[in-house]
Amino acid sequence: MNYKKALSDGFFKVISESAKELGVDSYVIGGFVRDHILNRGTHKDVDIVAVGSGIDLANHVAKNLPGNPKVQIFKTYGTAMLMHGDVELEFVGARKESYSKDSRNPVVENGTLEDDQNRRDFTINALALDLNESRFGKLLDPFNGVEDLENKVIRTPLDPNITYTDDPLRMLRAIRFATQLGFTIEERSIKAITKNNDRIKIISKERIVTELNKILLSDVPSVGFLLLEKTGLLKYVLPELIALKGIDEIEGQRHKDNFYHTLEVVDNICKHTDDLWLRWAALLHDIGKAPTKKFHKKIGWTFHGHEFQGSKMVYKLFKRLKMPLNDKMKFVQKLVLMSSRPIVLAEDKVTDSAVRRLVFDAGDYVDDLMTLCEADITTKNPKKFNKYHNNFKIVRQKIIEVEERDHVRNFQPPVSGEEIMKTFGLEPSREIGLIKDSIKEAILEGIIPNEYEAAYELMLKEGEKLGLKKK
Ligand code: CTP
Repeated sequence: MNYKKALSDGFFKVISESAKELGVDSYVIGGFVRDHILNRGTHKDVDIVAVGSGIDLANHVAKNLPGNPKVQIFKTYGTAMLMHGDVELEFVGARKESYSKDSRNPVVENGTLEDDQNRRDFTINALALDLNESRFGKLLDPFNGVEDLENKVIRTPLDPNITYTDDPLRMLRAIRFATQLGFTIEERSIKAITKNNDRIKIISKERIVTELNKILLSDVPSVGFLLLEKTGLLKYVLPELIALKGIDEIEGQRHKDNFYHTLEVVDNICKHTDDLWLRWAALLHDIGKAPTKKFHKKIGWTFHGHEFQGSKMVYKLFKRLKMPLNDKMKFVQKLVLMSSRPIVLAEDKVTDSAVRRLVFDAGDYVDDLMTLCEADITTKNPKKFNKYHNNFKIVRQKIIEVEERDHVRNFQPPVSGEEIMKTFGLEPSREIGLIKDSIKEAILEGIIPNEYEAAYELMLKEGEKLGLKKK
Protein backbone atom coordinates (compact mmCIF):
# COMPACT_ATOMS: atom_id res chain seq x y z
CA MET A 1 0.00 0.00 0.00
CA ASN A 2 1.22 3.49 -0.79
CA TYR A 3 0.63 6.40 1.51
CA LYS A 4 1.53 9.31 -0.81
CA LYS A 5 -1.66 11.02 0.30
CA ALA A 6 -0.37 11.26 3.88
CA LEU A 7 2.61 13.18 2.52
CA SER A 8 0.71 15.72 0.41
CA ASP A 9 1.91 18.65 2.52
CA GLY A 10 4.60 20.51 0.55
CA PHE A 11 7.26 20.28 3.24
CA PHE A 12 7.57 16.50 2.78
CA LYS A 13 8.79 17.10 -0.78
CA VAL A 14 11.29 19.64 0.54
CA ILE A 15 12.62 17.09 3.04
CA SER A 16 12.80 14.45 0.33
CA GLU A 17 14.75 16.74 -2.01
CA SER A 18 17.03 18.02 0.76
CA ALA A 19 17.88 14.43 1.75
CA LYS A 20 18.62 13.59 -1.89
CA GLU A 21 20.96 16.57 -2.14
CA LEU A 22 22.80 15.33 0.95
CA GLY A 23 22.84 11.76 -0.35
CA VAL A 24 20.98 10.29 2.66
CA ASP A 25 17.77 8.30 2.93
CA SER A 26 14.96 9.80 4.98
CA TYR A 27 11.70 8.54 6.45
CA VAL A 28 8.69 9.78 8.41
CA ILE A 29 8.23 7.59 11.44
CA GLY A 30 6.14 7.15 14.59
CA GLY A 31 3.03 9.01 15.72
CA PHE A 32 2.40 10.82 12.43
CA VAL A 33 2.16 7.56 10.48
CA ARG A 34 0.20 5.79 13.22
CA ASP A 35 -2.37 8.57 13.54
CA HIS A 36 -2.75 8.90 9.77
CA ILE A 37 -3.62 5.22 9.44
CA LEU A 38 -5.93 5.46 12.44
CA ASN A 39 -7.60 8.52 10.92
CA ARG A 40 -7.02 10.45 14.13
CA GLY A 41 -6.58 13.82 12.42
CA THR A 42 -3.23 15.37 11.53
CA HIS A 43 -0.42 14.81 13.98
CA LYS A 44 1.35 18.12 14.57
CA ASP A 45 4.69 16.54 15.55
CA VAL A 46 6.39 14.93 12.60
CA ASP A 47 9.40 12.70 13.31
CA ILE A 48 11.93 12.31 10.52
CA VAL A 49 14.68 9.70 10.54
CA ALA A 50 17.75 10.26 8.36
CA VAL A 51 20.13 7.40 7.69
CA GLY A 52 23.01 9.74 8.39
CA SER A 53 23.04 12.96 10.38
CA GLY A 54 19.62 14.23 11.49
CA ILE A 55 21.15 17.59 12.39
CA ASP A 56 22.66 18.07 8.92
CA LEU A 57 19.35 17.18 7.29
CA ALA A 58 17.47 19.62 9.54
CA ASN A 59 19.87 22.45 8.62
CA HIS A 60 19.55 21.67 4.94
CA VAL A 61 15.75 21.47 5.08
CA ALA A 62 15.62 24.83 6.89
CA LYS A 63 17.65 26.36 4.03
CA ASN A 64 15.22 24.98 1.45
CA LEU A 65 12.00 25.89 3.28
CA PRO A 66 10.33 29.25 2.69
CA GLY A 67 11.23 31.68 5.48
CA ASN A 68 14.28 29.58 6.49
CA PRO A 69 13.01 28.59 9.95
CA LYS A 70 15.46 28.50 12.85
CA VAL A 71 16.83 25.08 13.74
CA GLN A 72 17.09 24.10 17.37
CA ILE A 73 19.85 21.59 17.91
CA PHE A 74 20.12 19.10 20.80
CA LYS A 75 23.71 17.94 20.41
CA THR A 76 23.72 15.36 23.21
CA TYR A 77 20.79 13.53 21.65
CA GLY A 78 21.85 14.13 18.04
CA THR A 79 18.45 15.60 17.26
CA ALA A 80 17.25 18.85 15.72
CA MET A 81 13.89 20.55 15.60
CA LEU A 82 12.30 23.27 13.53
CA MET A 83 8.83 24.78 13.29
CA HIS A 84 7.10 24.92 9.93
CA GLY A 85 3.90 26.86 10.56
CA ASP A 86 2.26 24.99 13.39
CA VAL A 87 3.97 21.72 12.51
CA GLU A 88 6.95 20.66 14.60
CA LEU A 89 9.53 18.80 12.54
CA GLU A 90 11.91 16.68 14.55
CA PHE A 91 15.00 15.16 12.92
CA VAL A 92 17.10 12.31 14.20
CA GLY A 93 19.80 10.11 12.70
CA ALA A 94 18.90 6.41 12.48
CA ARG A 95 20.51 4.66 15.41
CA LYS A 96 21.23 1.44 17.07
CA GLU A 97 20.82 2.10 20.69
CA SER A 98 21.56 0.56 23.97
CA TYR A 99 20.72 2.29 27.20
CA SER A 100 22.78 2.57 30.33
CA LYS A 101 21.19 0.72 33.24
CA ASP A 102 20.54 3.60 35.62
CA SER A 103 19.17 6.32 33.44
CA ARG A 104 17.29 6.89 30.25
CA ASN A 105 20.41 8.30 28.58
CA PRO A 106 21.16 6.14 25.60
CA VAL A 107 24.56 5.13 24.33
CA VAL A 108 24.10 6.03 20.70
CA GLU A 109 25.57 4.33 17.64
CA ASN A 110 24.65 5.03 14.03
CA GLY A 111 22.48 2.41 12.41
CA THR A 112 20.14 1.52 9.57
CA LEU A 113 16.42 2.23 9.38
CA GLU A 114 15.77 -1.34 10.59
CA ASP A 115 18.01 -0.78 13.61
CA ASP A 116 16.09 2.38 14.35
CA GLN A 117 12.71 0.70 14.02
CA ASN A 118 13.88 -2.10 16.30
CA ARG A 119 14.62 0.31 19.12
CA ARG A 120 11.22 2.01 18.99
CA ASP A 121 8.65 1.43 21.71
CA PHE A 122 5.74 -0.25 19.95
CA THR A 123 5.07 -1.87 16.60
CA ILE A 124 2.40 0.76 15.93
CA ASN A 125 5.00 3.50 16.54
CA ALA A 126 7.69 1.87 14.40
CA LEU A 127 5.76 2.39 11.15
CA ALA A 128 7.75 4.44 8.64
CA LEU A 129 6.95 6.10 5.31
CA ASP A 130 9.75 6.36 2.78
CA LEU A 131 10.57 9.91 1.64
CA ASN A 132 13.03 8.86 -1.06
CA GLU A 133 11.87 10.10 -4.44
CA SER A 134 11.59 6.69 -6.13
CA ARG A 135 9.74 5.08 -3.21
CA PHE A 136 7.87 8.16 -1.94
CA GLY A 137 5.04 7.14 0.40
CA LYS A 138 6.00 3.45 0.66
CA LEU A 139 5.13 1.98 4.04
CA LEU A 140 7.87 0.12 5.92
CA ASP A 141 6.27 -2.08 8.52
CA PRO A 142 8.69 -4.80 9.60
CA PHE A 143 6.73 -5.81 12.73
CA ASN A 144 3.19 -5.88 11.32
CA GLY A 145 2.24 -2.66 13.06
CA VAL A 146 -0.69 -2.12 10.69
CA GLU A 147 -2.09 -5.48 11.67
CA ASP A 148 -1.72 -4.45 15.33
CA LEU A 149 -3.57 -1.21 14.58
CA GLU A 150 -6.38 -3.28 13.05
CA ASN A 151 -6.41 -5.72 15.95
CA LYS A 152 -6.04 -2.87 18.45
CA VAL A 153 -2.99 -4.34 20.15
CA ILE A 154 -0.02 -2.69 21.86
CA ARG A 155 3.04 -4.85 21.18
CA THR A 156 6.78 -4.21 21.36
CA PRO A 157 9.06 -4.82 18.35
CA LEU A 158 11.64 -6.66 20.47
CA ASP A 159 11.33 -8.92 23.51
CA PRO A 160 9.27 -6.67 25.82
CA ASN A 161 11.77 -7.14 28.65
CA ILE A 162 14.37 -5.41 26.48
CA THR A 163 12.08 -2.64 25.24
CA TYR A 164 10.86 -1.72 28.72
CA THR A 165 14.18 -1.94 30.52
CA ASP A 166 15.76 0.14 27.75
CA ASP A 167 13.36 2.91 28.64
CA PRO A 168 10.96 2.32 31.55
CA LEU A 169 8.85 5.35 30.59
CA ARG A 170 7.47 3.03 27.92
CA MET A 171 5.61 1.08 30.60
CA LEU A 172 3.49 4.16 31.19
CA ARG A 173 3.32 4.93 27.49
CA ALA A 174 1.92 1.46 26.80
CA ILE A 175 -0.85 2.04 29.31
CA ARG A 176 -1.44 5.58 28.06
CA PHE A 177 -1.79 4.44 24.43
CA ALA A 178 -4.06 1.57 25.47
CA THR A 179 -6.28 4.10 27.28
CA GLN A 180 -6.24 6.77 24.57
CA LEU A 181 -6.79 4.39 21.68
CA GLY A 182 -8.94 1.77 23.40
CA PHE A 183 -6.31 -0.94 22.64
CA THR A 184 -5.29 -3.96 24.67
CA ILE A 185 -1.71 -4.56 25.73
CA GLU A 186 -0.47 -7.99 24.72
CA GLU A 187 0.04 -10.41 27.59
CA ARG A 188 3.82 -10.67 27.15
CA SER A 189 4.04 -6.91 27.61
CA ILE A 190 1.82 -6.94 30.67
CA LYS A 191 4.09 -9.58 32.20
CA ALA A 192 7.24 -7.62 31.36
CA ILE A 193 5.82 -4.39 32.78
CA THR A 194 4.79 -6.18 35.95
CA LYS A 195 8.24 -7.71 36.28
CA ASN A 196 10.07 -4.44 35.70
CA ASN A 197 7.63 -2.07 37.39
CA ASP A 198 10.15 -0.79 39.98
CA ARG A 199 12.31 0.61 37.15
CA ILE A 200 9.77 3.42 36.88
CA LYS A 201 11.70 4.97 39.78
CA ILE A 202 14.40 6.26 37.42
CA ILE A 203 11.90 8.21 35.35
CA SER A 204 11.54 11.92 36.04
CA LYS A 205 8.37 13.06 37.77
CA GLU A 206 7.58 15.48 34.94
CA ARG A 207 7.49 12.68 32.37
CA ILE A 208 5.34 10.53 34.64
CA VAL A 209 2.87 13.37 35.10
CA THR A 210 2.71 13.97 31.33
CA GLU A 211 1.54 10.38 30.90
CA LEU A 212 -0.88 10.53 33.85
CA ASN A 213 -2.39 13.69 32.38
CA LYS A 214 -2.85 12.00 29.03
CA ILE A 215 -4.55 9.05 30.73
CA LEU A 216 -6.81 11.44 32.64
CA LEU A 217 -7.67 13.33 29.46
CA SER A 218 -8.82 10.13 27.72
CA ASP A 219 -12.49 9.25 27.32
CA VAL A 220 -12.41 6.42 29.87
CA PRO A 221 -9.44 6.96 32.21
CA SER A 222 -10.32 4.00 34.44
CA VAL A 223 -8.88 1.74 31.72
CA GLY A 224 -5.46 3.25 32.42
CA PHE A 225 -5.72 3.32 36.20
CA LEU A 226 -6.83 -0.31 36.29
CA LEU A 227 -3.83 -1.25 34.16
CA LEU A 228 -1.52 0.78 36.40
CA GLU A 229 -2.92 -1.12 39.33
CA LYS A 230 -2.77 -4.52 37.64
CA THR A 231 0.89 -4.07 36.63
CA GLY A 232 1.94 -2.77 40.04
CA LEU A 233 2.94 0.64 38.69
CA LEU A 234 0.29 2.53 40.61
CA LYS A 235 1.99 2.01 43.97
CA TYR A 236 5.02 3.90 42.64
CA VAL A 237 3.18 6.76 40.97
CA LEU A 238 0.02 7.28 43.04
CA PRO A 239 0.23 5.24 46.26
CA GLU A 240 -2.63 7.34 47.67
CA LEU A 241 -5.00 5.53 45.31
CA ILE A 242 -3.73 2.06 46.20
CA ALA A 243 -4.44 2.89 49.84
CA LEU A 244 -8.14 3.23 48.92
CA LYS A 245 -8.32 -0.32 47.66
CA GLY A 246 -10.09 -3.05 49.52
CA ILE A 247 -13.15 -3.59 51.65
CA ASP A 248 -12.90 -4.12 55.39
CA GLU A 249 -15.51 -6.02 57.29
CA ILE A 250 -16.00 -5.89 61.05
CA GLU A 251 -19.03 -7.38 62.78
CA GLY A 252 -20.71 -7.84 59.42
CA GLN A 253 -20.35 -4.17 58.49
CA ARG A 254 -18.55 -3.33 55.27
CA HIS A 255 -17.62 -0.08 53.55
CA LYS A 256 -17.39 0.40 49.81
CA ASP A 257 -14.13 -0.09 47.91
CA ASN A 258 -13.07 3.51 47.49
CA PHE A 259 -10.55 2.75 44.75
CA TYR A 260 -13.14 1.37 42.33
CA HIS A 261 -15.61 4.00 43.45
CA THR A 262 -13.05 6.71 42.61
CA LEU A 263 -12.51 5.29 39.14
CA GLU A 264 -16.24 5.30 38.53
CA VAL A 265 -16.40 8.94 39.59
CA VAL A 266 -13.56 9.82 37.22
CA ASP A 267 -15.24 8.08 34.28
CA ASN A 268 -18.51 9.80 35.14
CA ILE A 269 -17.00 13.26 35.28
CA CYS A 270 -15.24 12.77 31.95
CA LYS A 271 -18.64 12.66 30.27
CA HIS A 272 -19.26 16.21 31.49
CA THR A 273 -15.91 18.01 31.44
CA ASP A 274 -12.62 18.10 29.52
CA ASP A 275 -10.98 20.15 32.25
CA LEU A 276 -7.82 18.35 33.35
CA TRP A 277 -7.88 19.83 36.86
CA LEU A 278 -11.50 18.98 37.50
CA ARG A 279 -10.64 15.44 36.44
CA TRP A 280 -7.71 15.47 38.90
CA ALA A 281 -10.11 16.63 41.60
CA ALA A 282 -12.35 13.64 40.85
CA LEU A 283 -9.35 11.30 41.01
CA LEU A 284 -8.24 12.66 44.37
CA HIS A 285 -11.56 13.55 45.99
CA ASP A 286 -11.53 10.58 48.37
CA ILE A 287 -7.79 10.13 49.09
CA GLY A 288 -8.29 11.32 52.65
CA LYS A 289 -10.48 8.29 53.32
CA ALA A 290 -7.60 5.86 53.82
CA PRO A 291 -5.91 7.68 56.73
CA THR A 292 -9.19 8.67 58.41
CA LYS A 293 -10.97 5.32 58.25
CA LYS A 294 -12.30 4.11 61.62
CA PHE A 295 -14.75 1.51 62.86
CA HIS A 296 -17.19 2.39 65.64
CA LYS A 297 -19.28 -0.29 67.26
CA LYS A 298 -22.49 1.72 67.10
CA ILE A 299 -22.27 3.59 63.80
CA GLY A 300 -19.97 1.38 61.73
CA TRP A 301 -17.34 2.78 59.35
CA THR A 302 -16.55 6.50 59.34
CA PHE A 303 -14.13 8.74 57.48
CA HIS A 304 -14.42 11.84 59.63
CA GLY A 305 -12.54 14.83 58.31
CA HIS A 306 -11.39 12.98 55.19
CA GLU A 307 -12.07 16.04 53.04
CA PHE A 308 -9.69 18.21 55.09
CA GLN A 309 -7.09 15.43 55.29
CA GLY A 310 -7.50 14.86 51.55
CA SER A 311 -6.94 18.50 50.69
CA LYS A 312 -3.70 18.47 52.68
CA MET A 313 -2.64 15.32 50.84
CA VAL A 314 -3.29 17.04 47.51
CA TYR A 315 -0.54 19.53 48.30
CA LYS A 316 1.93 16.78 49.24
CA LEU A 317 1.05 14.75 46.16
CA PHE A 318 1.47 17.71 43.80
CA LYS A 319 4.78 18.56 45.47
CA ARG A 320 6.06 14.99 45.23
CA LEU A 321 5.15 14.74 41.55
CA LYS A 322 6.62 18.20 40.86
CA MET A 323 3.26 19.40 39.63
CA PRO A 324 2.49 23.12 39.68
CA LEU A 325 1.82 24.44 43.19
CA ASN A 326 -0.32 27.25 41.83
CA ASP A 327 -3.98 28.16 41.47
CA LYS A 328 -4.64 24.81 39.73
CA MET A 329 -3.46 22.98 42.83
CA LYS A 330 -5.55 25.26 45.03
CA PHE A 331 -8.56 24.54 42.85
CA VAL A 332 -8.09 20.77 43.31
CA GLN A 333 -7.57 21.27 47.05
CA LYS A 334 -10.71 23.35 47.41
CA LEU A 335 -12.83 20.86 45.49
CA VAL A 336 -11.54 17.98 47.60
CA LEU A 337 -12.17 20.00 50.75
CA MET A 338 -15.75 20.77 49.74
CA SER A 339 -16.50 17.48 48.01
CA SER A 340 -19.10 16.33 50.55
CA ARG A 341 -20.95 19.60 50.96
CA PRO A 342 -23.55 19.30 48.20
CA ILE A 343 -24.11 15.59 48.97
CA VAL A 344 -25.26 16.50 52.46
CA LEU A 345 -27.59 19.02 50.85
CA ALA A 346 -28.97 16.45 48.45
CA GLU A 347 -29.89 14.08 51.24
CA ASP A 348 -32.16 16.63 52.90
CA LYS A 349 -34.66 19.20 51.86
CA VAL A 350 -32.75 21.86 49.95
CA THR A 351 -33.06 25.17 51.77
CA ASP A 352 -32.15 28.60 50.40
CA SER A 353 -29.80 29.33 53.26
CA ALA A 354 -27.84 26.09 52.75
CA VAL A 355 -27.45 26.91 49.07
CA ARG A 356 -26.39 30.48 49.89
CA ARG A 357 -23.72 29.13 52.23
CA LEU A 358 -22.53 26.73 49.55
CA VAL A 359 -22.19 29.51 46.99
CA PHE A 360 -20.52 31.73 49.58
CA ASP A 361 -17.93 29.08 50.45
CA ALA A 362 -17.30 27.70 46.96
CA GLY A 363 -17.25 31.06 45.14
CA ASP A 364 -16.43 30.66 41.47
CA TYR A 365 -15.82 26.94 41.93
CA VAL A 366 -19.44 26.18 42.74
CA ASP A 367 -20.40 24.90 39.27
CA ASP A 368 -17.36 22.63 39.08
CA LEU A 369 -18.11 21.42 42.59
CA MET A 370 -21.64 20.48 41.51
CA THR A 371 -20.25 18.61 38.49
CA LEU A 372 -17.93 16.68 40.80
CA CYS A 373 -20.71 15.84 43.22
CA GLU A 374 -23.05 14.65 40.49
CA ALA A 375 -20.27 12.38 39.22
CA ASP A 376 -19.82 11.14 42.78
CA ILE A 377 -23.26 9.51 42.78
CA THR A 378 -22.37 5.90 42.09
CA THR A 379 -25.08 4.20 44.11
CA LYS A 380 -26.58 1.16 42.40
CA ASN A 381 -29.88 1.77 44.17
CA PRO A 382 -32.05 3.43 41.49
CA LYS A 383 -34.32 5.08 44.07
CA LYS A 384 -31.40 6.78 45.80
CA PHE A 385 -29.74 7.58 42.47
CA ASN A 386 -32.82 9.43 41.23
CA LYS A 387 -33.39 11.17 44.52
CA TYR A 388 -29.84 12.54 44.65
CA HIS A 389 -29.88 13.64 41.04
CA ASN A 390 -33.23 15.33 41.42
CA ASN A 391 -32.07 17.11 44.53
CA PHE A 392 -28.93 18.27 42.74
CA LYS A 393 -31.12 19.65 39.98
CA ILE A 394 -32.95 21.65 42.63
CA VAL A 395 -29.62 22.76 44.12
CA ARG A 396 -28.41 23.94 40.70
CA GLN A 397 -31.65 25.83 40.10
CA LYS A 398 -31.48 27.41 43.53
CA ILE A 399 -27.85 28.42 42.96
CA ILE A 400 -29.02 30.46 39.97
CA GLU A 401 -31.91 32.03 41.90
CA VAL A 402 -29.84 32.81 44.99
CA GLU A 403 -27.12 34.26 42.77
CA GLU A 404 -29.54 36.56 40.98
CA ARG A 405 -31.05 37.77 44.21
CA ASP A 406 -28.28 37.78 46.78
CA HIS A 407 -24.95 37.94 44.93
CA VAL A 408 -23.08 35.98 47.57
CA ARG A 409 -20.54 34.51 45.15
CA ASN A 410 -17.28 36.39 45.85
CA PHE A 411 -19.12 38.10 48.69
CA GLN A 412 -18.25 41.71 49.45
CA PRO A 413 -19.73 43.01 52.73
CA PRO A 414 -22.36 45.67 51.93
CA VAL A 415 -21.15 47.75 54.90
CA SER A 416 -17.41 48.12 55.16
CA GLY A 417 -15.30 47.95 58.30
CA GLU A 418 -14.38 51.55 57.73
CA GLU A 419 -17.99 52.64 57.80
CA ILE A 420 -18.56 50.73 61.03
CA MET A 421 -15.59 52.51 62.61
CA LYS A 422 -16.81 55.90 61.40
CA THR A 423 -20.38 55.31 62.54
CA PHE A 424 -19.42 54.40 66.10
CA GLY A 425 -16.17 56.35 66.33
CA LEU A 426 -14.17 53.16 66.82
CA GLU A 427 -10.48 52.41 66.49
CA PRO A 428 -9.66 49.05 64.84
CA SER A 429 -11.12 46.56 67.31
CA ARG A 430 -12.84 43.22 67.88
CA GLU A 431 -16.29 44.82 67.73
CA ILE A 432 -15.90 45.61 64.04
CA GLY A 433 -15.33 41.93 63.27
CA LEU A 434 -18.33 40.94 65.38
CA ILE A 435 -20.65 43.35 63.59
CA LYS A 436 -19.35 42.33 60.15
CA ASP A 437 -19.90 38.67 61.03
CA SER A 438 -23.45 39.27 62.22
CA ILE A 439 -24.25 41.05 58.94
CA LYS A 440 -22.72 38.25 56.87
CA GLU A 441 -24.57 35.58 58.86
CA ALA A 442 -27.88 37.41 58.54
CA ILE A 443 -27.43 37.62 54.77
CA LEU A 444 -26.50 33.96 54.44
CA GLU A 445 -29.43 32.93 56.62
CA GLY A 446 -31.73 35.07 54.51
CA ILE A 447 -32.74 37.24 57.48
CA ILE A 448 -31.81 40.38 55.57
CA PRO A 449 -31.19 40.89 51.85
CA ASN A 450 -27.65 41.50 50.62
CA GLU A 451 -28.24 45.26 50.36
CA TYR A 452 -26.75 48.37 51.87
CA GLU A 453 -29.81 49.78 53.67
CA ALA A 454 -30.74 46.55 55.41
CA ALA A 455 -27.12 45.93 56.38
CA TYR A 456 -26.81 49.47 57.73
CA GLU A 457 -29.89 49.01 59.88
CA LEU A 458 -28.55 45.75 61.25
CA MET A 459 -25.18 47.38 61.94
CA LEU A 460 -26.92 49.98 64.14
CA LYS A 461 -28.83 47.28 66.01
CA GLU A 462 -25.76 45.10 66.53
CA GLY A 463 -23.76 48.14 67.66
CA GLU A 464 -26.42 48.95 70.20
CA LYS A 465 -26.29 45.38 71.53
CA LEU A 466 -22.56 45.88 72.07
CA GLY A 467 -23.21 49.12 73.92
CA LEU A 468 -21.90 51.36 71.13
CA LYS A 469 -23.33 54.76 70.33
CA LYS A 470 -23.75 56.31 66.90
CA LYS A 471 -21.50 59.40 66.54
N1 CTP B 1 9.50 6.67 21.11
C1 CTP B 1 10.03 5.53 21.68
N2 CTP B 1 10.17 5.45 23.04
C2 CTP B 1 9.80 6.48 23.83
C3 CTP B 1 9.27 7.65 23.27
C4 CTP B 1 9.12 7.71 21.89
O1 CTP B 1 10.36 4.60 20.97
N3 CTP B 1 9.94 6.40 25.15
C5 CTP B 1 9.40 6.76 19.64
C6 CTP B 1 8.12 6.18 19.07
O2 CTP B 1 8.44 5.65 17.80
C7 CTP B 1 7.21 7.37 18.92
C8 CTP B 1 8.19 8.46 18.53
O3 CTP B 1 9.39 8.13 19.24
O4 CTP B 1 6.22 7.20 17.94
C9 CTP B 1 7.74 9.86 18.87
O5 CTP B 1 7.48 9.95 20.25
P1 CTP B 1 6.39 10.95 20.86
O6 CTP B 1 6.40 12.21 20.10
O7 CTP B 1 6.61 10.98 22.31
O8 CTP B 1 5.03 10.16 20.67
P2 CTP B 1 4.07 9.96 19.45
O9 CTP B 1 4.14 8.55 19.01
O10 CTP B 1 4.32 10.98 18.41
O11 CTP B 1 2.63 10.10 20.07
P3 CTP B 1 1.99 11.26 20.98
O12 CTP B 1 2.22 12.54 20.28
O13 CTP B 1 0.57 10.85 21.08
O14 CTP B 1 2.69 11.17 22.29
